[in-house]
Amino acid sequence: MEIFIDSADVNEIREAASWGIVDGVTTNPSLIAKSGRDFRSVVHEICEIVDGPISAEVVSTESAKMIPEAREIAKIHRNIVVKLPLTTAGLQTTKIMFEEGIKTNVTLCFSAAQGLLAAKAGATYISPFIGRLDDLAHVGMDIIEELVTIYDNYGLPTKVLAASIRHPRHVVDAALIGSHVCTIPFKVLAQLVKHPLTDSGLAAFLKDWESVPKR
Ligand code: G3P
Repeated sequence: MEIFIDSADVNEIREAASWGIVDGVTTNPSLIAKSGRDFRSVVHEICEIVDGPISAEVVSTESAKMIPEAREIAKIHRNIVVKLPLTTAGLQTTKIMFEEGIKTNVTLCFSAAQGLLAAKAGATYISPFIGRLDDLAHVGMDIIEELVTIYDNYGLPTKVLAASIRHPRHVVDAALIGSHVCTIPFKVLAQLVKHPLTDSGLAAFLKDWESVPKR
């Protein structure tokens, strides 16, 4: 499973990338706003930190504006994946980007039916939002399972990108199901690394090492 970091904070992205486990980055308008920086400059800097797919999202809602906006975003860097909402305008734009060879990440997906349509339109990635469904007492991970099966049934090349990840169990479940990608906030990435038995085991090894005769 590819691991992306879900962040527009260049310090977080740089730190996680230094661990050697980051394959790509996803951003969204809320994360860009949280960074407090200009969209183009922060996206460009992210592209210089991570040499992999970098999702940057449109904010237009009508296809007449979304299509030129998507083309402009794609020009920022060769690794840009244009993030488009799962609306009819988003699907229309996805199809056109597919025909133009521009990679897309169709976002705000909350059902397998929506995910099937995104794949039909030629999406490179589909982003089902797991945590937000869990918040409404659904089982968000069911959509990951359904889409992995549906895409596999028909040999659809769209990659399932598990998003809205809230805790380490989401990551493990996504990997067990066979999600192609999981995009993970920095806080959860840090939680994935940690285990109290690793810490106590290392402390014990170092303590015991003190009694080893040194030449
Ligand atoms: O990047 C989109 C998605 O990961 C958002 O997550 O936590 O705002 O539901 P969240």
